[in-house]
Amino acid sequence: MGIERVIDTSIHEDDPEEKAVEFSLRPTTFDEYIGQTRLKTNLKLAIDAAKKRGDVLDHVLLFGPPGLGKTTMAGVIAHEMNANLRVTSGPSIEKAGDLASILTNLADGDVLFIDEIHRLRRAVEEILYSAMEDYKLDIVIGKGPAARSVRLDLPKFTIIGATTRTGALAAPLRDRFGHQFRLEYYQEKDIQKIIERSAGLLETKIEPDASKMLSTRSRLTPRIANRLLKRVRDYADVNSDGIIDTATATAALKMLEVDELGLDPGDRNMLKLMIEKYGDKPVGLNTIAALTGDEASTIEDFYEPYLMQLGFIQRTPKGRVVTQAAKDFILRS
Ligand code: ADE
Repeated sequence: MGIERVIDTSIHEDDPEEKAVEFSLRPTTFDEYIGQTRLKTNLKLAIDAAKKRGDVLDHVLLFGPPGLGKTTMAGVIAHEMNANLRVTSGPSIEKAGDLASILTNLADGDVLFIDEIHRLRRAVEEILYSAMEDYKLDIVIGKGPAARSVRLDLPKFTIIGATTRTGALAAPLRDRFGHQFRLEYYQEKDIQKIIERSAGLLETKIEPDASKMLSTRSRLTPRIANRLLKRVRDYADVNSDGIIDTATATAALKMLEVDELGLDPGDRNMLKLMIEKYGDKPVGLNTIAALTGDEASTIEDFYEPYLMQLGFIQRTPKGRVVTQAAKDFILRS
């Protein structure tokens, strides 16, 4: 990705402070986790039942736009199950053997979190089928006519898979998850609570009007809310007494070029280009990517979901269409 955008929902991996803070703000229990009520109710019941039976929790698939707390929820689940959490991701497991070694190193009851599970390679994915279903590992030893396959017993474990796209997951894999949940965009009042909780943990004072204002500009996404909070806190520390009020928040957000709906110049530019060049006509994702200079997958996974949530972009079989609401907003801003 080119320039770093504050409203970006990916974790800025190369920023150690960002990673450390993001980690320190993560809730560890259901009681601390704000929002996603339906998900919490269902998971709590499943966890209580599994614990009562002395069994592991059935595999869990979490899907939805980035930044809504899939990794955080995996941590909460492991904590509530009193289990160890192992973390890996689809792209980092290169060979079937890599997965075999992860699986054989698990202990009974462990939780294995696989982020971006839709990016697992086919050969790796196939190993997962029998591992998830029967806790068996099928491996082939040797090559050619001498090759034979052996079946190893694995400990009983829970896989938590996370993906931004369920559509990209092969049906046989998807079907092996007993629990499947979509993480929804948060309500503004919950984002406000998250901001106030995080401010407390960061020992920063924020006035209720200011946390409310930040909550309307965080794209209904905790990761963005926490990032904006930190940037506004920096601004308050340098330019005033460190207390975040609406005047400081307004000035800081103006500097960050985040508008009242949480859009940044990149979003507004994309909408403007679509309006100018295509008007009411549908336009393909790759064309939009060529217009803005972004990767198509970045637009699809990171920027578009919130613009669709706002009702600014619609997906049609022929491509993306900008709505009247988006045109009104862009004309006014
Ligand atoms: N920090 C990030 N996500 C959170 C959530 N859902 N609840 C509380 N704090 C959070």
